Amino acid sequence: MFSDKDISHFANLETPFYFYDLTLLQKTLSTCADAAKLYNFHVHYAMKANFNERVLEKIKDTGFGADCVSGGEVSKAIEVGFKKNQVVFAGVGKSDKEINGALDNDIFCFNVESIQELEVINELAGKKNKKARVAIRINPNVDAHTHHNITTGLDENKFGINSWDLPLCAETLKKSANLEFLGIHFHIGSQITNLDVYKNLCVRVNEFAAWFEERGFTVKVLNVGGGLGIDYHNPEQQIPDFGAYFKIFSEFLNVRSNQEVHFELGRALVGQSSSLISKVLYVKNGKKKNFIILDAGMTELMRPALYQAYHKISNISKLAEADAVKYDVVGPICESTDCFGKEVELPTTLRGDLIALNSTGAYGEVMASHYNLRENIVSVYNTDI
Ligand code: LLP
Repeated sequence: MFSDKDISHFANLETPFYFYDLTLLQKTLSTCADAAKLYNFHVHYAMKANFNERVLEKIKDTGFGADCVSGGEVSKAIEVGFKKNQVVFAGVGKSDKEINGALDNDIFCFNVESIQELEVINELAGKKNKKARVAIRINPNVDAHTHHNITTGLDENKFGINSWDLPLCAETLKKSANLEFLGIHFHIGSQITNLDVYKNLCVRVNEFAAWFEERGFTVKVLNVGGGLGIDYHNPEQQIPDFGAYFKIFSEFLNVRSNQEVHFELGRALVGQSSSLISKVLYVKNGKKKNFIILDAGMTELMRPALYQAYHKISNISKLAEADAVKYDVVGPICESTDCFGKEVELPTTLRGDLIALNSTGAYGEVMASHYNLRENIVSVYNTDI
């Protein structure tokens, strides 16, 4: 996964850093774009997964739109050149300032998550003499069978409008002169590896689309969100099966010829294209446990501490065949959850060895923090080596 040239270059750099393989990113994006084109599906990249500018540039150049969840992301998307009519704005808590900013930018659509939000957007659009395009984010109560903390489409979740509130939602839409109804939006969760879950989603999308049409609304957009997972255990499985993913929607979704189907992929597009490269500061051999203490911690990669997420750990300074030892691989932060893996089998490791935490392109760099007054994490790109 890393060339010899990459590794000898890493040895001269200050660690930790995120290493981006922009060649792999490009390949992933093209594969996705080609697969989507087969069915005329539209992809908006979920910017929350990674808003590194060089990553965004490539995604924009692929022709994808941007799915944003804050005013900051809307501004950034437009600043890097995403077309305004390809920017969508979701999120349960859009502030008036963020809504006004998006209205000023004439973005394509607000994915609206409550009836009160509909009323506020209508009012703010009215003050500007504008019509805001909206899609209704519906909570479909479909179990994504993923980690509890990244499930979003169940009745107990805060996201979207629940089905029992839809009659009131339809009434609100009908009386809101400054709203234009575009369609319906869903997102049931992230890191979904059992694609059958999406068949259940399609059934619900079809039901809700019919519900709106029966009440006189034209559903122009069916936005089914994102969530396609990646193989964290086999990072060499670099490109997710976009073909199989889109095929499910082509088979199970009822789509009229004048309807658009939108996707909001994040992780699947960027996840495998980056690794966090760190150096071993110390090795502590105990009676019961051996510890590898890295110079990267939960401040650089929060997912293991937050979700017990797995990232494959490899010692890239050593040949894998060297004597294997079990280590707990931990960071330098003053928290017991600052641990990347327990009982990880690695070749005998020494101070100064380089360790790669793989598959960190999604929700890695963007979730870094300054806790313990840690320095900003830097990025290194394969194309610059
Ligand atoms: N659309 C909406 C409305 C979303 O909330 C999300 C992600 C996506 C699209 C993109 O989902 P993806 O294709 O990346 O699965 N920080 C967590 C993941 C949080 C996902 C939040 N929403 C993690 O590190 O696993």
